[in-house]
Amino acid sequence: MSSTEWWRSAAIYQVYVRSFADGNGDGTGDLAGVRARLPYLAELGVDALWFTPWYLSPLADGGYDVADYRAIDPVFGTLGEAEKLMTEAQELGLRCIVDIVPNHVSDQHAWFRAALAAGPGSPERELFHFRPYSEEPPNDWVGEFGGVPWSRAPDGEWYLHLFAPEQPDLNWNHPEVRREHEEVLRFWFERGAAGVRIDSAALLAKADGLPSMDPARPHPFHDRPELHDIYRSWRRIADAYGAALIGEIWLPDAERFTRYLRPDELHTAFNFDFLSRPWDPAQLWESIDLTLSTHAPVGAPATWVLANHDVTRTVTRYGRAEDTGFAFERKRFGVPTDLELGTRRARAAALLTLALPGSVYLYQGEELGLPEVEIPRELVQDPMHARSGGVDPGRDGCRVPLPWDGAPAPSWLPVPPGWSGRAAERQARDPDSMLSLYRTALRRRRCLGEAGPLRRLRTDEPGLLCFARAFERDESDESDLSDGGNGSTWVTLVNFGPDDVALPADSELLLTSGPLSARGLLPPDTAVWLRRRGFKDSH
Ligand code: GLC
Repeated sequence: MSSTEWWRSAAIYQVYVRSFADGNGDGTGDLAGVRARLPYLAELGVDALWFTPWYLSPLADGGYDVADYRAIDPVFGTLGEAEKLMTEAQELGLRCIVDIVPNHVSDQHAWFRAALAAGPGSPERELFHFRPYSEEPPNDWVGEFGGVPWSRAPDGEWYLHLFAPEQPDLNWNHPEVRREHEEVLRFWFERGAAGVRIDSAALLAKADGLPSMDPARPHPFHDRPELHDIYRSWRRIADAYGAALIGEIWLPDAERFTRYLRPDELHTAFNFDFLSRPWDPAQLWESIDLTLSTHAPVGAPATWVLANHDVTRTVTRYGRAEDTGFAFERKRFGVPTDLELGTRRARAAALLTLALPGSVYLYQGEELGLPEVEIPRELVQDPMHARSGGVDPGRDGCRVPLPWDGAPAPSWLPVPPGWSGRAAERQARDPDSMLSLYRTALRRRRCLGEAGPLRRLRTDEPGLLCFARAFERDESDESDLSDGGNGSTWVTLVNFGPDDVALPADSELLLTSGPLSARGLLPPDTAVWLRRRGFKDSH
């Protein structure tokens, strides 16, 4: 991609390093593995890679407990390898995004160790939220992983951790905390990172005095107004390097969400509303419409996400009778799932999502149609499982290492034996595989380039979602898609209903998520991309 505003329309692939590719055969993914698979990622047709934390870490929360931002964990490789990886990726046209976790550090971070050693009342403790000894925790907050977000230091003082006890929260009122993070941004931008993904971006600031919850007052640690100034200063740094800031912001209020995307704040943020919606045309359309209409006033591009390392995999969600929309609090063991149905829908959802204006995030294994794995309780490592009292199966089920060639190999989580059939090398040879669908769709999405804004098309079919985007310019090196035809339109149809539906006449088939019926109709849970010439839509 040549545009300096690449983040407005890029397809970004999330690499969960620990489970992507294992270069040294020790059962854990590593940087050598990623480097070896860069050609696969270039071939897939994505524009950028986002690496989940690869820094020195005890891995109490899969690396989101960072002990040193300037070092790579030896289980993954070295800083030199990370630099080489970023250079090699750039040579293949892939930009690199690194993950920054500003809300907390690992309890093994030098700052927290020093704070424990220095004792109550010390300046070292001011970098965190310590409170004097008391019988009860200092307030009534409930942590993001559930439970009391306070633990005791060995001397009896409490410290705050919105996540696991191994992830003490930083005090963002402290100038040193701000300065250090600005240095960390520069450190990675200097090494070629084209952007950062900001973990838990709406949690950093806490209300003064850490008051207990009060329904009459703003939330004491969600979406605090003080955050905007922090991101304004980050934006100045990012702009100096031409880099993008991408916020992980779980916020139900769409208008408050887009405040983070004002022109002097973050470039984009993950739109989790979309993946929270069930497989239902009215619900998904409502999310698309809401997203586009709230982003437009701030001039920020929308983002589209179906999956990541925290949520139930798409083919599993969409294969369920209920709960096809994601919610952390509803995760349970043993939910019946029809994977064939889920896969059909996930294929349709891929075409739906890749046709929307904005940038799109793909989570590793989504392109292989991997389902969520139910990890036996005794092997679960994710702290969310234990902190829910064993009710929540945790997030390991979407973090199982990718099957590359299908051969048995050691791995830090068990890989289901049936996954050899889903191995990347096998799918690459099968034109009907999920991988082939993603490859074709991503390539065509690129060709369709900067198609115009999305307009919904009216239809009498209640289960049909249809929209169109005009493309007038010939951006393409593939003449079958865009041969300079002024006035042609890229139309997407998704059939959520129970019956086959007819395709509009005078349209050229670009891509389908599954076979059409013998009579050329669009079957249930199937999507299609069409090109129509001189097409007039009615909104
Ligand atoms: C984010 C990450 C998640 C992590 C949490 C705490 O939500 O995506 O994996 O557990 O932050 O850092």
